[in-house]
Amino acid sequence: MTAVAGPNELLKGRVAVITGAGRGIGRGVAECFVAQGARVVINDLEADAAAEALAACQAAAGAGVALAHAGSVADADYAAELMKATIETFGKIDILVNNAGLSRDAMLHNMSSESWRQVIDVNLGGTYNCCHAAAPYLRDVAKAELAERGEVAYHRKVINYSSTAAINGNIGQCNYAAAKMGNIGLTRALAREWAPFRINVNAVAPGFTETRMTQPKEDGDGKLGIPRAQRAAFIARLPFGRPASPADVANVVLFFASPLSDWVTGQEINVSGGHQIP
Ligand SMILES: NC(=O)c1ccc[n+]([C@@H]2O[C@H](COP(=O)([O-])OP(=O)(O)OC[C@H]3O[C@@H](n4cnc5c(N)ncnc54)[C@H](O)[C@@H]3O)[C@@H](O)[C@H]2O)c1
Repeated sequence: MTAVAGPNELLKGRVAVITGAGRGIGRGVAECFVAQGARVVINDLEADAAAEALAACQAAAGAGVALAHAGSVADADYAAELMKATIETFGKIDILVNNAGLSRDAMLHNMSSESWRQVIDVNLGGTYNCCHAAAPYLRDVAKAELAERGEVAYHRKVINYSSTAAINGNIGQCNYAAAKMGNIGLTRALAREWAPFRINVNAVAPGFTETRMTQPKEDGDGKLGIPRAQRAAFIARLPFGRPASPADVANVVLFFASPLSDWVTGQEINVSGGHQIP
């Protein structure tokens, strides 16, 4: 049995790659992880956002705790570069958080094939690309430890992202719901493939969380977000009376990343404050 670490040491010595960590939930995960003793690689499509998250992590936990790396997880070659840069900087990968995601909402009959593909390529393709690119550093390293000592040093962790919009179905999000249900299938299959190497693969399914993705559509570029009136009606139906904060979701990602969840794999946790439990 793994001993549980002391306060603020749940991830002491661990190295985590977190995708889409420049803002929102991913940034919350990065800040939560460095507060628990991890070193983190902050990926984001947007270099400025990644740099801001990097500065916040360094201000909280010191200069050496984080690296920012900009690029798209939808690009398999980039995903390989991201993992290589992590090894060059920190020497290993213990935790992979496939948080990067985006929405392009439209009713199916109005949805362009470009929106369909973009949402699938980032939310589902990005998860595949990063798991595939990290395999040599997660699976092969664990396999070598098993061959040499008969046991791994510790459980390594992969955390993928579903959504209550997928589990319950959500009008205007056929592309997003398909990608996020895809991540559940990928999670369950990979959990079985990597269990012999003591790599836990789990998923979080956030509900309505206050981020750019759920901001009033009228305040953004018109692509992301939820129309203001629809947003207010949605929030009024939430059992706890407020949306989640990024930290609410990060705490559950922390559970899956830490030794507390060593005996849990192939599962998803609905992090929605009880909204629309199926
Ligand atoms: N906010 C919610 O209510 C909610 C609900 C359920 C699930 N989620 C999921 O949580 C995750 C985080 O979402 P968020 O709400 O923080 O959104 P957000 O828009 O605030 O942040 C997402 C980040 O991902 C980055 N990103 C987008 N495409 C990328 C790519 N191709 N490569 C690398 N980075 C990329 C963006 O630049 C952005 O910084 C996503 O997977 C999202 O689908 C969010």
